[in-house]
Amino acid sequence: MCLTPPAIACSTTRGWPAALLLMLLTLPALAASPEAGRTKAQQCAACHGLDGLSRLPDAPHLAGDSALYLAAQLRAYRSGTRQHPQMSIIAAALSDEDIADLAAWYSAIAISVELPYDGGEALSGSD
Ligand code: HEC
Repeated sequence: MCLTPPAIACSTTRGWPAALLLMLLTLPALAASPEAGRTKAQQCAACHGLDGLSRLPDAPHLAGDSALYLAAQLRAYRSGTRQHPQMSIIAAALSDEDIADLAAWYSAIAISVELPYDGGEALSGSD
């Protein structure tokens, strides 16, 4: 009896394990995981905080930044397009999956802001 879906050739039952393996191999590339990113972010915590709020005066906050931006910066450090003594070394060790997971973690952190004063008029420039 043939149980394979129409898209897969039905000549052999060995088609199923192969199709499953292919699905498993491609899965990590499809879905970035904030949970995995949280674990991986422990290596970033001393400088950026696990919560994405910087612990160093020269390290930027990452919490709430867009995943698109964060991943682009990490890839730029890794490729050398953007350079920094510490980040270039750190990013060199990151895989595409690591970058996607880390970007997913830091972008998923909700932040709120408080303006130093109610400067609506001053900020909009109208008086
Ligand atoms: C030793 C301290 C240190 C560690 C550890 C560290 N960073 Fe950084 N990171 C920095 C500093 C400093 C900068 C600012 C670099 C610059 O001026 O380009 C930075 C910049 C960045 C930026 C660019 C942010 C922006 O606003 O453009 C990202 C993204 C980033 N780090 C992610 C990470 C991730 C993810 C990890 C962990 C895998 C990590 N960093 C580990 C110090 C660190």
